[in-house]
Amino acid sequence: MKVLLVGSGGREHALAWKLSQAANLTELHAAPGNPGIAALGRCHPVRAEDGEGLLTLARSLEIDLVVVGPEAPLVDGVADELRHAGVPVFGPSSGAAQIEGSKSFAKDVMRAAAVPSAESLSIARPPCVIKADGLAAGKGVYVCHDQAELDVALRAAASFGDSIVIEELLEGEEVSVFALCDGARALALPVVQDFKRAEDGDTGPNTGGMGSYSPVAGFGAAEVEEVLDTVHRPVLEELTARGVPFVGVLFAGLMLTDDGPRVLEFNCRFGDPETQSLLPRVSGDLLGALARAAAGDLSGVDLEVSDDAAVTVVLTAGDYPAGNDVGSPIDGIEDAEQAGAHVFHAGTALNGERLVTNGGRILSVTSTGITVAVARERAYAACEHISFAGMRYRNDIAAMAHA
Ligand code: AMP
Ligand code: GLY
Repeated sequence: MKVLLVGSGGREHALAWKLSQAANLTELHAAPGNPGIAALGRCHPVRAEDGEGLLTLARSLEIDLVVVGPEAPLVDGVADELRHAGVPVFGPSSGAAQIEGSKSFAKDVMRAAAVPSAESLSIARPPCVIKADGLAAGKGVYVCHDQAELDVALRAAASFGDSIVIEELLEGEEVSVFALCDGARALALPVVQDFKRAEDGDTGPNTGGMGSYSPVAGFGAAEVEEVLDTVHRPVLEELTARGVPFVGVLFAGLMLTDDGPRVLEFNCRFGDPETQSLLPRVSGDLLGALARAAAGDLSGVDLEVSDDAAVTVVLTAGDYPAGNDVGSPIDGIEDAEQAGAHVFHAGTALNGERLVTNGGRILSVTSTGITVAVARERAYAACEHISFAGMRYRNDIAAMAHA
């Protein structure tokens, strides 16, 4: 099978790594990919949002399956363009991707499907949460405990230019529950916990994600299935009823409150950096499952998961999430890999032969082990081999995990 992977982040590098192990993969292509992915397949200079360019590429390479990583091209309708031209795609239509692209659409679907979520509020009064309605790369959410935080949030949210959603503030542990979906069926993937805040101790601004680990203690396969029954499957049914069946990864961000799991948000794709901790635990045939989902038939598909744990630490530019870093030389990746870690590229580029920084989240470092504690120790040991100007990471990823 010839696969075209769309995207250029750490999530896509992890997908490329897993797909490149598939027995029935014949060629791996990426658009645009990154220097890490280039070691596993062929990268083509076509942007992820360029639907026409992707279609031309898929046709000329005789691609059997396109796997779309990021949300923006999905919300823009890239999957529709390919699918209408007869190219099999793993990734939802623009209509179905509104579950991520519009917070108010997601709220409406959840209400109709009776999915437990945070209550919407009509007045912004602390404590509450303010969300910009459109896509904001994980940065458009403001948790406000007091009036001062609320004032900042309202000003910042206005700068995104979308309308805002106001929600009750929920408390508890957060988990990300992923399911492969074929429009009607939902197949569970390993549960992951993500660390969204920029600084240790869950302080600082929200980011795209600073690290992740899997499994999550107290949230095993039975709990995941229960969430699929109360969240994912009712949403799939509702989306189908609205004429926008969902094919791809439906990712529910949940808060485990004292009153049970509540949905904070849906995403229409794999998480980043959750995928880096999720895929090393998938021992079954991921490519086969993605192809079956894209063909609308996941019946009888079962994806084996290993008992090993995985921990991912994201290495960022010095002033991420406020700013990026471009052009600083990166050293030590080979040493980190020799120490047993997977180093997934996120914001990197080649300057001649030299690997340099090119973004906010630069690399993610993933290690596995028989427990989360073992995987964590290995991941942090590997991080110490890597250096670039301004490099920063959180020191407490998976520190409180007891799995
Ligand atoms: P979202 O993009 O909606 O997942 O929000 C990003 C992060 O903001 C979540 O992972 C939570 O940490 C936090 N958050 C979002 N909604 C709420 C809520 N209703 N109550 C408390 N925290 C929230
Ligand atoms: N790590 C959260 C996300 O991918 O949206």
